[in-house]
Amino acid sequence: MSIKVKNVSYTYSEGMAYEVHALKDVNLEIPDGQFVGLIGHTGSGKSTLIQHLNGLLRATEGKIYFNGKDIYGDKYPMRELRSKVGLVFQYPEYQLFETDVLKDVCFGPRNLGYSQKEAEEKAKRALRMVGMGEEYDSSSPFELSGGQKRRVAIAGVLAMDPEVLILDEPTAGLDPRGRDEILDQISYLKRERGITVILVSHSMEDVARYVDRLIVMNQGQVRFDGTPKEVFRHYRELEEIGLAAPQVTYLMQELKEKGARVDTDATTVEEAADAIAAWLGGQEQL
Ligand SMILES: Nc1ncnc2c1ncn2[C@@H]1O[C@H](COP(=O)(O)OP(=O)(O)OP(=O)(O)O)[C@@H](O)[C@H]1O
Ligand SMILES: [Mg+2]
Repeated sequence: MSIKVKNVSYTYSEGMAYEVHALKDVNLEIPDGQFVGLIGHTGSGKSTLIQHLNGLLRATEGKIYFNGKDIYGDKYPMRELRSKVGLVFQYPEYQLFETDVLKDVCFGPRNLGYSQKEAEEKAKRALRMVGMGEEYDSSSPFELSGGQKRRVAIAGVLAMDPEVLILDEPTAGLDPRGRDEILDQISYLKRERGITVILVSHSMEDVARYVDRLIVMNQGQVRFDGTPKEVFRHYRELEEIGLAAPQVTYLMQELKEKGARVDTDATTVEEAADAIAAWLGGQEQL
């Protein structure tokens, strides 16, 4: 089904002198199975928005529907929503607290009422899904590398079988290899499980490669919403709000301005290479 955000506004410390209007009349619909990138300058409202999607924050105004149901309605099962819409916070490794990896990942399913045996099955499945082999099950989370800790944290959410997986800056603070590993893993999960993924990121380069749709936030509002190609066409406006399109967008624009007849919609290095090759190939035939 879908997540629908309707006219949602959120104000921190409402009525106080220091109130902050973090979200202003946000409207969105995210269908099942979509891979969405949520991008925006620091303070633009990304984390605030995603915390609404699983009910951690309650909109000051507006409504949210999950699979057609108003989550603020009477007797709405909020607990169930939190397990269906799994949220992995920024720096989730700080939330690992059990003595071993398996126990840590069992925590979520145990909390949902599954038996120890069922929880362990779910935990093991989730750990394998994020590429953590059996040999780590009894390791202390503190012995792992940064990227591994983050995988374990993601497994902790996956073990609850969410329909939607939201990741707040999952690559922050990782080296390029750790970053690619996590993003490839998320992309694999999305393909294997068909779940909806919402990926919050600062990096256009990261998201351009993976997502079906990009939502750009600025000062609590949705500024652009479309495929990466559609959004990057607005690269000059993106700069005005402190964001940049991927490097290749600039390269292709520059080539075009210098007279090359290339398709400027390339968003990854591979696409840019193909576009340039196509242009050069076309030239040879002249
Ligand atoms: N707990 C809070 N109390 C008061 N104001 C807050 C709180 N959390 C966030 N804000 C403010 O709300 C606005 C939106 O913040 P939010 O954390 O949602 O942005 P963000 O896009 O996630 O930023 P970042 O990229 O830095 O994570 C900012 O002005 C921020 O200062
Ligand atoms: Mg944030």
